[in-house]
Amino acid sequence: MASKLSISSTVKLNSGFELPVLGFGLTCSRPKDKATEVCSHALKVGYRHIDSASAYHNQGESAAGIAASGVPRESIFFTTKVPVNDKPFDYDGVRELVDTALAQTKLTYLDLVLIHWPHGNGPNGRKGAWRALVEAVEAGKVRSIGVSNYGVQHLNELEGHIKELEAERGGPGKGGVISVGQWELHPWLMRPDIVKWCRERNIAVEAYCPIVRGKRFDDPKLQALASKHGKTPAQILLRWSLQQGFVPLVKSVTLSRIEENAGVFDFELSDDEVKDLATDEYSVCSWDPTVKPLEE
Ligand SMILES: NC(=O)c1ccc[n+]([C@@H]2O[C@H](COP(=O)([O-])OP(=O)(O)OC[C@H]3O[C@@H](n4cnc5c(N)ncnc54)[C@H](OP(=O)(O)O)[C@@H]3O)[C@@H](O)[C@H]2O)c1
Repeated sequence: MASKLSISSTVKLNSGFELPVLGFGLTCSRPKDKATEVCSHALKVGYRHIDSASAYHNQGESAAGIAASGVPRESIFFTTKVPVNDKPFDYDGVRELVDTALAQTKLTYLDLVLIHWPHGNGPNGRKGAWRALVEAVEAGKVRSIGVSNYGVQHLNELEGHIKELEAERGGPGKGGVISVGQWELHPWLMRPDIVKWCRERNIAVEAYCPIVRGKRFDDPKLQALASKHGKTPAQILLRWSLQQGFVPLVKSVTLSRIEENAGVFDFELSDDEVKDLATDEYSVCSWDPTVKPLEE
């Protein structure tokens, strides 16, 4: 399976849409308008998947990279996330942010909208936010929906909310479908409980910080694999993520690194190499809302 992967490979989502297996992420690029240049470059070298967020304050500039690249909109998968810190995390706040995302990106639809983090307004906030996304799908504004940084406790609660919404809104399908989940994932943070939960429901698992922000490049096992395969540590980590069945989202504002990070489809790690790089560590390099209690 792994050897057949290419940069245009996709994963079929529960929504029926196709998610390209390698994502280009753009957390808070400085200056903001650099986002247009780097997104355009990423698309020109073959990426077909952009990961943005309302909280990155550059979703408009990122989406402008689509037009600048000349790549047809229909062949690109554009994600954003809600909420932001200064909007209420509830039905009204999220409804407004979906419309803001459409206006800022000038796109006629968003491929994927994720709830960025679970905490901020407790169970009612999360249920309202999800209902706003379900309605956005029904209105044709958004194609697929999902969550980011949810712990298993939040995921179980969401399944309950979906059932409640089905009962309240007229039956099966009316509670929405979870297509994608996004978490920090790499060999030093495997999150087996969350990944299992998703796999049992065919939810695509996206991996952020897939190259651990460069902080583990001197790991001896990683160095040995890089030498053996004639690849960089970043390329080994991205290939590892793909072969785990994750959808890695890698960020760079450096044009040469954007190209380097796309060069992960001309080699393969053995099953033993994939297993051997994995660890039991729980080492977070960004943040970890998965541990937040339901009341928060
Ligand atoms: N849902 C969430 O809460 C959440 C949280 C964090 C991230 N994300 C998403 O995941 C994406 C990636 O995460 P991330 O940016 O935190 O981590 P990352 O992709 O693991 O690492 C990015 C860092 O590595 C550097 N880099 C990139 N390619 C490199 C290479 N080939 N060699 C050496 N260094 C390289 C980048 O520098 P330069 O840019 O200077 O090249 C940047 O400093 C984000 O852009 C965002 O879309 C989501």
